[in-house]
Amino acid sequence: MIKITQACDLVIFGTKGDLAQRKLLPALYKLEILNKIHPNTRIIGAGRADWTQDEYIKIVKTAIKKFSKENIDENTWNKLSSRLHFCNIDVFKEVFFKKLKKILHQTKNTIIYYCAVPPSAFNAIFQGLGKVNLNSFPSRIIIEKPLGVCLKTCKKINDQISKYFLESQIFRIDHYLGKESILNLLSLRFANALFFNNWNNKIIDHIQITVSEEIGIENRWNYFDDMGQTKDMVQNHLLQILTIIAMDQPKDISSKHIQNEKIKILRALKNINIENINTKTVRGQYTEGNIHGKKVPSYLEENGANSISQTETYVCIKVDLKNDQWFGVPFYLRTGKRLAQKYSEIVIVFKKIPINLFKDYNHNLSQNKLIIRLDPNENIQIDFLKKLSGLNEIYQLKNETMQSNLSIEKQHHQIDAYERLLLEVMKGAQSLFVCREEIEESWKWIDPIINAWKNNKKNTLQLYAAGTWGPKHADEMIMKDGRNWHKFR
Ligand code: BG6
Repeated sequence: MIKITQACDLVIFGTKGDLAQRKLLPALYKLEILNKIHPNTRIIGAGRADWTQDEYIKIVKTAIKKFSKENIDENTWNKLSSRLHFCNIDVFKEVFFKKLKKILHQTKNTIIYYCAVPPSAFNAIFQGLGKVNLNSFPSRIIIEKPLGVCLKTCKKINDQISKYFLESQIFRIDHYLGKESILNLLSLRFANALFFNNWNNKIIDHIQITVSEEIGIENRWNYFDDMGQTKDMVQNHLLQILTIIAMDQPKDISSKHIQNEKIKILRALKNINIENINTKTVRGQYTEGNIHGKKVPSYLEENGANSISQTETYVCIKVDLKNDQWFGVPFYLRTGKRLAQKYSEIVIVFKKIPINLFKDYNHNLSQNKLIIRLDPNENIQIDFLKKLSGLNEIYQLKNETMQSNLSIEKQHHQIDAYERLLLEVMKGAQSLFVCREEIEESWKWIDPIINAWKNNKKNTLQLYAAGTWGPKHADEMIMKDGRNWHKFR
């Protein structure tokens, strides 16, 4: 049971923006339903709008009605609305931070700042808070991607924030770390001897990580076109999943030890550069197509598009690690927009049994798989072989699947990643957040890939129709290694 948190003043910069409206305010409402917020906690919306307190409360209610999965219950809403305050602020002007300070000095609550604003406004916030001494420990600050577009720009943000805040005050969100199935990876790996003892290159053949999205660019063309799927999804979410799968057992479950193990994995990623870019990566872009019977435009015809963009909306990467535990075990990552279905899973494929005792009846024994599904219907599944039941040949085998009932459990405890992550910040626990070194190491590995794509003329963008599973080159890449993508059933 998660304990009720300490009393906080949560300041949301950018309270009018998409992130606050779609995710943060509904998450706070859910935490209120679950009684997880301290009675004296206050929520201070900060933004440029000239709203009165009443107007702000109405705007928050509208956002919750629109974006929360929960029905509005008047009692709960009254509790939440009594916490709400609005502070009109122009983050580029120091005088406004003095106004904020007056509000914050009304209590002794721990202060949490959520920078739900574009990164171009981050530094003004760090400086503004610093100038009026609102940055001292134990205040906490939350920032979220894009944290740079390359190592250099990421370092710049980290340098700027570290002038005013200690690393122990900084919470860098990767919302995948708040997902139930990702958290489950830790318990699965480190609480079960069955998996713990079989988690290495002697037993595991390869690993597949797929994050497939149905949605396209959702009116974010300019943002997305500067990023592409590699920076938008691989640099953060997929690499985080990879590190949790590959990391060694931490000394304990403190953030320091977990993050240290993850950093070791990021440092062990084998370089992909101009020499091997064509064999290790496939990148694609969607053309028009159909998703669930509805026609959708190509990437180049989306709202606001520039018709000659070479930005990838799909990427597949074969990742190798240079450490003893994973030597010879490739991690195949793939993710794309406008694919056939929203579907994400991690597939651990075990090695073939060396001697097939059943060969007279079963020529090929299929490999065991452990499948951790994130979407749809979170689940853990094990594929194995068993005897075909009945009066058949006793050595005739069939594939069988054993599934956990996480999705049924989840109906009772449905927690969104932002609910969990906000709660963790309120508790001051950093293990579900990304530290400076992690994020910089991941950019160190991503930058040469992006540069190699730019500089290798032979590396062409593969087109795929929206509503399919992406470019056929990604299938060919894994098939060349004598493997196949796990088929979602
Ligand atoms: C975000 C990306 O970080 O993650 C989006 O910017 C992407 O482009 C989203 O659609 C996917 O998140 P989820 O939780 O829906 O898998």
